[in-house]
Amino acid sequence: MPTPVPPLALGGDYNPEQWSSDVHAEDRDLMREAGVDLVTLGVFSWAHLQPALDRWEFDWLDRQMDDLQAAGIRVDLATATASPPPWLARRHPEMLPVTQDGRTLWPGGRQAFCPSSPVYREHALALCRALGERYADHPALALWHVSNELGCHNARCYCDVSAAAFREWLRARYGDVDRLNDAWGTAFWSQRYGDFEEVLPPRIAPAFPNPTQQLDFLRFSSDQLLDNFVVERDVLHEVSPGVPVTTNFMVMRQTFEMDYLRWGREVDVVSNDHYLMADDAHAHRELAFSADLTRGTAGGAPWLLMEHSTSAVNWQPRNRAKAPGETIRSSLAHVAHGADAVLFFQWRASRAGAEKFHSALLPHAGTDSRLWREVVQLSEVLDSIEEVSGSRADNRAAILYDYEAWWGCELDSHPSIDVTYRDRAEDFHRALSAAGIGVDVVHPGSDLSRYRLVVVPTLYLVTDEDAAAVAAAAEAGATVVVTYFSGIVDESDHIRLGGYPGAFRDLLGVRTTEFLPLVEGESVTVEGLGDAGVSADVWAEELELAGAEAVAHHADGPAGGRPAVTRREVGTGAAWYVATRLAPDGTDHLVERLVAEAGLDRLPGASADVEVTRRVGNDASWLFVINHGSEDASVPVTGTELVSGRSVSDDLVVPAGGVAVVREEH
Ligand code: GLA
Repeated sequence: MPTPVPPLALGGDYNPEQWSSDVHAEDRDLMREAGVDLVTLGVFSWAHLQPALDRWEFDWLDRQMDDLQAAGIRVDLATATASPPPWLARRHPEMLPVTQDGRTLWPGGRQAFCPSSPVYREHALALCRALGERYADHPALALWHVSNELGCHNARCYCDVSAAAFREWLRARYGDVDRLNDAWGTAFWSQRYGDFEEVLPPRIAPAFPNPTQQLDFLRFSSDQLLDNFVVERDVLHEVSPGVPVTTNFMVMRQTFEMDYLRWGREVDVVSNDHYLMADDAHAHRELAFSADLTRGTAGGAPWLLMEHSTSAVNWQPRNRAKAPGETIRSSLAHVAHGADAVLFFQWRASRAGAEKFHSALLPHAGTDSRLWREVVQLSEVLDSIEEVSGSRADNRAAILYDYEAWWGCELDSHPSIDVTYRDRAEDFHRALSAAGIGVDVVHPGSDLSRYRLVVVPTLYLVTDEDAAAVAAAAEAGATVVVTYFSGIVDESDHIRLGGYPGAFRDLLGVRTTEFLPLVEGESVTVEGLGDAGVSADVWAEELELAGAEAVAHHADGPAGGRPAVTRREVGTGAAWYVATRLAPDGTDHLVERLVAEAGLDRLPGASADVEVTRRVGNDASWLFVINHGSEDASVPVTGTELVSGRSVSDDLVVPAGGVAVVREEH
C-alpha cells in the first residue's frame, strides 16, 4: 500500500531517463547519503512512457519505483502529461498553442499544447489512467503530481479551439449575449455583439482590446488550466483512492495568470515552486510574502515546497549563484512560513538540454563540492526540526489578496503604469514582518473575524460582498487600512460612481474627485507620519474628507496641502486610507501606528534583516529565526533550540547568516 509523504521531506525532481543504469545505482546511494526521502518522478517522461501512439514502455518506471522503494525513498509520481511527445503534435498540429499575435508555439521546447485542446486532453487522460492503474498500490507511491506548473509557458492560448472554448465559458457565465454586452460595456467603440459566435479572445487589435473581455479571458484561461488538473485528479481519485493529488503552483511575484486562491480548493495538498530573482537585492522578502500567500492558498494548512534551487537557475538573464548558507536559509524560510517539505529542481544536474546550467542537489562537480556539503547539512537541519511538521501559523494580521484584482489592476489604458498590484502588498508585508508581526495572506472573501489588523492593498476590483466584509471587520473592532486604487470597479470592471474609492468611500470617510498620478521619477513629501517628512511617489489624489480625519498631508506636488493618509473611527475599529505610494520608511511609520492601535503582539527579535515566525502545534510552539543580515542577532526566547540541540534562556544568539528553531517554553 502507498505510504504518506515523510515529515519535512527532502528531495527533488528525479529524471533518471537522462542517465544510464549505473548512474541510477549511484543516485540511490547518494540520495541516502544526503537524506533524500522523497523524489518527484516522471514529470517529463511522456515520450519515454509512450514512444508512439500504440506503444507503451513502463518497464523502466517499474524498475525505478521498485528500486526507490528498496532504498526507502518515497515517490511523488507525476502523471507525465506536462509535455506531449513530438509524435502527438505531428499527428495533431491543431493542439499547438497560439500567441495573442497569431504565432504558433511549436514542439521542441516543452508544454506545447493548447489548454483547451480535446486531443491533448484525450491522450493526457489515457496516460494518466494508465499510470494511475499501474502504480496505485505501489508501496513507493506517496503522492500524485498532476502535470507540472500548469500554465508556465501556455497560460493563454488564442487559437480557434481556445476561441470556441472561450465562447462556451462566456455562454455559461452570461447566458445570453445581451448580458455579455452589458458586462463588457460594448456600447463603447461599436463593439456590440449580436451572437456569441462573433466573440473572440482578445487577440492583437488596432487599439486597446475591451478591458472586460481581457479580464474574462484571464478568468477563462485560469479556469481551463484548472480544469486540466481537475480531470486528471478525478481519474486518480477513481483508480488510486486515498493517495493525495497535487499540482505544483508557481506562487511568486512573476506569476499572475493562475488564480491560485481558487485552485487551492481543488488540490488535496498545496505544493508550490519558488525561485529567487537575481536582480532583487532583498529576494528573501519576496520569498516570505510568497510563502505566506502559498499558505493562504492552502487555507492555512501545511504545504509542500515542491521546487526551489540549491543555487543558480538558468532562465534569468544573469543567474546568481546562492551564497554559502543561502540554500539553508531559503529552505528554512519556506518551512517557517508553513512548508512541510523541502524539494528542489532537480536531483542531479543535467549534462544536456536547456537546463544543464541549472543547479541541483548533486552538482556537475559531484560530491566534493561546497554545494553538496550544504545539501547534507540541510538534511541534518531538517531532521533536527522534524517535530514542527503539521503545525500551523496563528496570526492576527492579514493582507487581503485577490488574483482578479491583480488582473484588473494591471490592465492597459489605466491612469498610470506604475500602479502594480503586488507592490503595496509586499511593502506592508515587509514592514509588518520587520515589526515582528506574523501575517496571513488571504482572499477578501475569507473569514476575517480572527484578525485585529486587515490590510487591503490595491484592491482595484472588489465585489459588493467582499467590500461589505471589510467594512464589517472594522465595525467589529479591527483596524483596516486600504491603499490607493482600491474599490474602483466591480467584477465587470465598471467604475463605481460618485467618487473614488467607490466601494470603500463610506467606510473610509473620504471622497476623491480626481486621480493625480505622478510622472516618472517624480517624488513628493508627506508630512505627519514621522518627525520629518517622508517621500512618496507614483500616486496622489484630489481627496476630500467626508467623515475621516487627516493623519498626514502632502507638503507639495499636485495634491499639495491635501490629506495623504486618513483615519476614521468605525464601530469599535477604525479604517485608514493611504492615498499615495509611501516610501518604505513611510510605510514603517504607518505600520507602527497600526500595530499599536490594533494591539498586536510582536514576535521577539524581528528586524529588517532578521525574519521571525511562529508555528503552533497542539501542545507546543516553535519560533523560527532566520538571520539574513551581516550581524549576529540576539533574540529573547526561552526553550530548546532544535538545530543545535541546546537550551536557551531568554538570550538566543543567531549568527549572521544563521538559522534557529526554538521549541518555546511558556
Ligand atoms: C520550473 C519547472 C522545472 C524546471 C525549473 C527550473 O519550476 O517546473 O521543470 O524547469 O522551473 O527552475
